[in-house]
Amino acid sequence: MAETITAVSEVPENSSYLFSVEDAFTNEREAIIVPCEDDPGVEAWINDCPHEPQKLDRGSGAAMRDGEIICPKHGSMFDACEGGCGNGPAAGMSLLSVDVEVADSDVVLVDNDYEFLKTGGLDDDDSGPSSTSPLSF
Ligand code: FES
Repeated sequence: MAETITAVSEVPENSSYLFSVEDAFTNEREAIIVPCEDDPGVEAWINDCPHEPQKLDRGSGAAMRDGEIICPKHGSMFDACEGGCGNGPAAGMSLLSVDVEVADSDVVLVDNDYEFLKTGGLDDDDSGPSSTSPLSF
């Protein structure tokens, strides 16, 4: 089922928009929408580097340069439109694609393998005991 993720205008010009999906095995995964020069202007990928367990977008947007997404761990760069990598330790590997389309200025998830869960990453609404303790009032 096609589900709207966000407006195209919400996707940063030189970084990524983070959202969460559930795959066919009910695993929750993070995914990113990135700007791409080719039509329809955005692409989406699972938010994992194929080299080692490492999120490309760690919650504040992935680093990008010249249309490529930069892995924060070892610096491999992935083509934002194609997902492929030609350099660094992830050379020859590719990001896992998530199919999206643009409709009425919105980015729509059209991938049968993934269901839209929410905007933001999986840890975003962790109400852990970090900053505000419920006991301190
Ligand atoms: S973990 Fe991304 S290049 Fe090594």
